[in-house]
Amino acid sequence: MCCVVPERTRMNSNLIYQGSDLMLDRLPLATIAREYGTPVYVYSASSIRGQVTRLMQSLGTIGSLRYAVKANANPTLLALIFNMGLGADTVSRGEIQEALDAGCPADRIVFSGVGKTQEELTFALDHGIFINAESEEELATIARLRTGVHVGIRINPGIDAHTHRYVTTGTEESKFGIPVDAAPDAFRLAMDAGLVPDTISCHIGSQITSLEPYRKSLARLLELRDSLMGNGISVSTLDVGGGFAINYGEGADFAVEDLQALLRRDVPQGMKLWFEPGRYIVGHAGTLVTRVLYRKRYTRTFVVVDAGMNDLIRPALYQSHHAILPITQRDSGPTPCDIVGPVCESADCFDRDISIPLPEQGDLLAICDTGAYGWSMSSTYNGRPLLPEVLIDDGEPVLIRERGR
Ligand code: LLP
Repeated sequence: MCCVVPERTRMNSNLIYQGSDLMLDRLPLATIAREYGTPVYVYSASSIRGQVTRLMQSLGTIGSLRYAVKANANPTLLALIFNMGLGADTVSRGEIQEALDAGCPADRIVFSGVGKTQEELTFALDHGIFINAESEEELATIARLRTGVHVGIRINPGIDAHTHRYVTTGTEESKFGIPVDAAPDAFRLAMDAGLVPDTISCHIGSQITSLEPYRKSLARLLELRDSLMGNGISVSTLDVGGGFAINYGEGADFAVEDLQALLRRDVPQGMKLWFEPGRYIVGHAGTLVTRVLYRKRYTRTFVVVDAGMNDLIRPALYQSHHAILPITQRDSGPTPCDIVGPVCESADCFDRDISIPLPEQGDLLAICDTGAYGWSMSSTYNGRPLLPEVLIDDGEPVLIRERGR
């Protein structure tokens, strides 16, 4: 065969060639494309279960997991994840409702976000949802609506997570949370207003590859906890946030076991821990299947496919890399080409200069590791319908979302 799938892609996304056909969980993706049309998102239930199990066996032994719904809010996937015992991290009334509808108990839902409306706060309070407040004014607003409620306060520890600047959330440049220096006053303000601020929460970014930023931010949170204790404010819970990286074809997934060891070592006994992973759970599970519409061979070679940046915006927005694999391998030499979508924007490009055997018109391609922030960030830009989603569970494909109109 002329095209070899990188070992890690095979290992993590459940994609493997059988002969010249690319299979997801033993089903040929070409069959799925024939049955459901393209473009289409296809997910592997076993990949999600595998990632959740790894998290449960590491972080789940020292704290509780709340899935970040924003990564992928398909109702069937949410139900699968909540059935495994996870709670939810949400950022809007809509996400809270989605979590409740998919069977997540209210007392396992956290409501974060820098701009919650009064209506959203009221909805959360009425449903007994735990709120992580992100500013003094938000705390005051919550206290006006209800007193006596337990709340978290999101701290911005001033730590660079060394990730893309759009997904870095723990530095001074970032709008999120309350700077650690201002945090003691915010806790005092919350107490004086009649709230019970018993949780320090933090989320320093996304697609974080190393332990170091967590180590640094944990040190700041524990310092804060000690100083609050000295002032008679007791903190029962640390919400460490999410951000655990997955490999998009090279390197490894974030070592959750190392984070577990760090927390076991440094966090005082009796302190509750929460984690909010999103990407780590669903990222590898998704494959975007797209069909080649046209080839254009001039100075550059363009392969125009039927999926666009409205279906998967990550490459255009974050210059992120997703491996692209032929669904049926061709026995010809690799040709450098750009894989582009049909949207009227030059940013509508999934990858540049990739070396694959030049696909024919009508061939299928798989864009890998697109389960997180793929469908959930899609739009109908250019009048394009939202994509259908198919779940492969136990060897059976099931349509879990219809194609939009
Ligand atoms: N908790 C909070 C408060 C968050 O804001 C986020 C993500 C998470 C947890 C989950 O982070 P994760 O474990 O998925 O990294 N659209 C971007 C990622 C944006 C993440 C926003 N917040 C991307 O496609 O890379």
